Amino acid sequence: MKDKALVEEVRRRNDIVEVISEYVALKKRGQDYLGLCPFHHEKTPSFHVSPDKGLFYCFGCQAGGNVFTFIQKRENLSFPEALKLLAGRVGVSLDDEEDPEARRRRQETEEAYRAIELAQRYFVRELDSPEGKGARDYLERRGIKPETAMTFGLGFAPDSWDRLTRGMQRQGFQPDFLARLGLVASREGRSGHYDRFRGRLMFPIGDIRGRIVGFGGRALTEGQGPKYLNSPESQFFNKGHLLYVLHLAKDAIRAKERAIIVEGYMDAIACHQAGIHNVVASMGTALTVEQGRLLRQQTAEVTIAYDSDLAGASATIRGMELLASLGCRVRILRLEGGKDPDEYIKAFGAEDFARQLESAGTLNEYKLRLALGETRAGPRTPEEKADVVRRAIPVLASITDAVERGEYLKKVAALAGVKEDTVLQELKRTYRQRAPGSHRDRFGNTWHNSRDNRPESSPQPGTAVATRPAGGTRAERNLLALCLEKPELIETIRSKVDFKSFSDHELARLASILLDGGGPGSIEDEQQPLAIALLKELRASFENEPLNPERAARCANDCVRVLNEHTMVRRMAELERQIEDFEKSGRVIPVETLKEYQELARKTKA
Ligand code: UTP
Ligand code: MN
Repeated sequence: MKDKALVEEVRRRNDIVEVISEYVALKKRGQDYLGLCPFHHEKTPSFHVSPDKGLFYCFGCQAGGNVFTFIQKRENLSFPEALKLLAGRVGVSLDDEEDPEARRRRQETEEAYRAIELAQRYFVRELDSPEGKGARDYLERRGIKPETAMTFGLGFAPDSWDRLTRGMQRQGFQPDFLARLGLVASREGRSGHYDRFRGRLMFPIGDIRGRIVGFGGRALTEGQGPKYLNSPESQFFNKGHLLYVLHLAKDAIRAKERAIIVEGYMDAIACHQAGIHNVVASMGTALTVEQGRLLRQQTAEVTIAYDSDLAGASATIRGMELLASLGCRVRILRLEGGKDPDEYIKAFGAEDFARQLESAGTLNEYKLRLALGETRAGPRTPEEKADVVRRAIPVLASITDAVERGEYLKKVAALAGVKEDTVLQELKRTYRQRAPGSHRDRFGNTWHNSRDNRPESSPQPGTAVATRPAGGTRAERNLLALCLEKPELIETIRSKVDFKSFSDHELARLASILLDGGGPGSIEDEQQPLAIALLKELRASFENEPLNPERAARCANDCVRVLNEHTMVRRMAELERQIEDFEKSGRVIPVETLKEYQELARKTKA
């Protein structure tokens, strides 16, 4: 970059606190600003931003730099790309020279934003047109005011074959390009393109900074295909990395130090319209690790307000486990009568809904309720009493905080109609049974025990519904959990282990994504429960010690060593079998086999 003065100007005009605040909640501490590091997972803030120096630094993961470095890291951009973004942010124009590949990529991204922006304007215009009357009526029926529709950029895709396609083509956008963005679809086997969204109410979906990256389109009539048609997954649009209306909610979330997460577009909009602005939607799918992180970077207090149907309940369980594993304090709102937040607000009003939010139960209350159903205190037979206690024990055992556990224990005793001491005895018995000898091992103990090769399958108490125990060895599981918890370790781990050497199929698959694929961000949906279970196990091992970077790196090293040892031992066993076979059949043992065996024997001894 030849023009140093220009770079300097862009840097000066982009206030580092302002820029970083677009991503992370920052609080003033003395001269500096402090927040949770967006580059590694942490529970207590160690991410400092110094406006005077124009620098940020994380004492947790040592990430640091200026406003360009931040954008490069966070948006995954090259320096020229970051410069471009920040120049654009403050309206400085650049005549840049960049390498052709970077230019092509940047231009394509800009093209994509432009195309989506153009489509957005088209949808908004159509909502206002005579053809949009049906959609406007629909909004009215759903109680969405025109101002609200405007705030959320709602639009309408008319039931036309290719009006958008043709319009965009006239603006110079190629149908193939638009097809990749999911705005256009092509007829299979035949030539010709048509509008992918037809006869739908359009919800633009923005990233944390409010740039539109995709759409959700709601069907307006029955039998019109899926209720919501969303932009297809692409590099550009990744639903699992986005929270609907985070850009509109983040200020309120930071101000109230609490976020509310709902399932649907409509729920989020209804809450905002009712004056509750700290609300985002996870857009149907169960919360992903990436979404959880995004939320955790704004606040540690999260209320889950999912639908109270069965799907919603199971998504709630997964969501709460995930958020808790990321260090959030979780509350759960249960809405009576099978209603979602939108329907609830409509039926009972915003004040009632806000009151419900205030009294939302804690994670452990929710777990207890799941375990006990609607058990009410009252007279019981001895068998009934035993049953209540039996069902509550796994939940009690899962509560790590002694004070909290004691309080819940009192509740259970009252509910069952037994003495607290009785419940306590049962609880102690479970502890003893669960892990003879090795229970409550400090992390280090199990860690260095290289014979810890047997798959452990004692389920985490109180989570049987949400996560099943993971297979593989402790070292394998913890190594992957460390990759999830501290993605910055992946780079070094990658070169030291082969994901094919994982003994468990599912762990191997996760390892291939974490180590060889796109990192934590690209975990598939069905792998999320496994990821959560791994994080939980890791967290439990570190109950009393903070997982600082040095410690994490050391543990990762230990895991790698143990893992590679296991791999060698397995390979040796295999070679032994082969050698035996050769001997039995009287054939000559190949030199390579013997050599490999001796080599391994030497290494494992060392
Ligand atoms: P819901 O079915 O609860 O939708 O799905 P909703 O938002 O409450 O919509 P209304 O009130 O019926 O109009 C919750 C979310 O799941 C995603 C959408 O993000 C939706 O908001 N979803 C649902 C899809 O992506 N596709 C679907 O077909 C259905
Ligand atoms: Mn709904």
